[in-house]
Amino acid sequence: MRSHGCGDLRADHAGQEVQLCGWVDRRRDHGGVIFIDLRDRSGTVQITVDPDLGAEAFAVAEHLRNETVLQVSGKVRPRPPESLNERLATGAIEVLAAGITVLNEVKANLPFPVSVHDEENTREELRLRYRYLDLRRERMARNLRLRHAAVRAIRSVLESEGFLEVETPVLTRSTPEGARDYLVPSRVCGGEWFALPQSPQLFKQLLMVGGIERYYQIARCFRDEDLRADRQPEFTQLDMEMSFLDQEQILALNEKLISAVWQQVKGVTLPTPFPRITWHDAMERYGTDRPDTRYGMELVNVSDLVADMGFKVFSGAVAAGGSVKVLPVPGGNEALSNVRIKPGGDVFGEAQKAGAGGLAFIRVRENGEIDTIGAIKDNLSEEKKAELLQRTGAVPGTLLLFGAGDTATVNKALDRVRQFLARELGLVPADRDNDIWNFLWVVDFPMFEFNADENRLEALHHPFCAPNTGDLGDDPERWAETLPTARAQAYDLVLNGLELGGGSLRIHDSALQRQVLQTIGLPLEEANAQFGFLMEALDLGAPPHGGIAYGLDRMVMLLSGEESIRDTIAFPKTQQARCLLTGAPGGVSGKQLEELHVASTWKDEEEG
Ligand code: AMO
Repeated sequence: MRSHGCGDLRADHAGQEVQLCGWVDRRRDHGGVIFIDLRDRSGTVQITVDPDLGAEAFAVAEHLRNETVLQVSGKVRPRPPESLNERLATGAIEVLAAGITVLNEVKANLPFPVSVHDEENTREELRLRYRYLDLRRERMARNLRLRHAAVRAIRSVLESEGFLEVETPVLTRSTPEGARDYLVPSRVCGGEWFALPQSPQLFKQLLMVGGIERYYQIARCFRDEDLRADRQPEFTQLDMEMSFLDQEQILALNEKLISAVWQQVKGVTLPTPFPRITWHDAMERYGTDRPDTRYGMELVNVSDLVADMGFKVFSGAVAAGGSVKVLPVPGGNEALSNVRIKPGGDVFGEAQKAGAGGLAFIRVRENGEIDTIGAIKDNLSEEKKAELLQRTGAVPGTLLLFGAGDTATVNKALDRVRQFLARELGLVPADRDNDIWNFLWVVDFPMFEFNADENRLEALHHPFCAPNTGDLGDDPERWAETLPTARAQAYDLVLNGLELGGGSLRIHDSALQRQVLQTIGLPLEEANAQFGFLMEALDLGAPPHGGIAYGLDRMVMLLSGEESIRDTIAFPKTQQARCLLTGAPGGVSGKQLEELHVASTWKDEEEG
């Protein structure tokens, strides 16, 4: 149907007869001559329709709506000098139409203009409702191409490293990754349910027992969790697993993989090895296990300094087993007024959203004097003041923001304020312009964290991570004692404050696996019922193994500079986990439910 792509035509095609197919991007009627911007996935070219040179073509062109699908034949000719368009790759030429065939008409009003010129103003709901129109636009087309390029780079590295791509089931048993499962009722086995995989975790471990040694998969995962800009209920992982490699080898191989992706997709050479930080240090210095290291403002723990101070908010927090930490903001005196830090202010609001009651603060003045409201100043001796300034690296102009309370809340609040201020103070480029790639391995995670709501330990990653052997000790009799505080041989890859991937070495000893499952509160019987197949496999010659999984959508989001994961997925779900295009999820017939042995307890709100 066509000889060239619209966007591929250049000055040296002048004189050639071409046949093109595409969509009418825009049509301009210049009294006598009609110009059509014809678009296909390669780009846009100007079609010139002159009634004197093609009366029939002109008659068709007179009534074309935008987005009509056309086939155009004609001759390429150089544009006259006054109408050269340097912003367009095809701007040196135009195609003089000899014939225009309408391949398909646009029969309804377009819900939004597709033309690239109008891209920014369309509401996202409308873009998602008519996603196929949105995909015709440059932005989404560019993102999908970039996604494809990333996957191609991934495949080429992994294949040259001897990895085998293996598919794992989607109808399966629940794998605990910490989110709620999507369930599928079984018709044949009445009353029983499949779970869609939250990840291929157990299958990839079983593939290692199966002797595959190096596995990868571009795997669809399903998690029914609260959605955010970087989460989707259905998302894609680059999932990997390896046998007979230690943690150092796994990290080195992954640095090679990530570097190749950034090289091939962005043309950026990443320095390796990537920096590392322990989980403990990350929490202490940044208040989070995924720190953005593109800027400073590291937190400073001053609990010891203020423990016996007369200021109750501080001394009380320490006495209750919590912490007092400082977020130093260089230049903060000038940039941030009291109004913004006190109740009702935007900085205060950020801390509050993270659960903090407020933000005490100190301003360091020109002469090294400190300025604050209320009780801090009255209770800070000269010595302690000097120590405070020294520890926090404060200089005249610095604003010191204090978080006091239980350590988790202090960390959460100061992390949130730190990120907010980095954007406010222009310390990080806008996502779209970002060209700083601060990769960071976070290592030495704890095996477990305490879930206060359920009053039990839960796995920080998942319960298949191997504990640090030094922390565990050699005596299996003591595992119940040593496990709860042990570190895991687990690692996360963080990029500019976002968790890109995470993995670990795995347990390959069934007794230890049972012990870990018991530590998270699974009685032995239940552990056997749920994971007996895994423990059985571990006992039949499981090699030492470990792996990692990356969020592919997140990777593409960072590579493309998009702020939302939805802009990296062809057909994403909304924050309410809906597909606006197909209307899923939707109702099903009573007969279907009956066949599946399922009855709904759902009541519409109006019905009560
Ligand atoms: P984890 O749960 O950390 O590990 O997931 C790995 C990576 O997947 C991405 N991710 C998501 N992306 C989009 N939407 C979501 N809802 C979502 N949830 C997670 C993140 C994350 O880093 N089986 C283990 C991996 C392993 O141990 O090998 C796992 O799934 O980028």
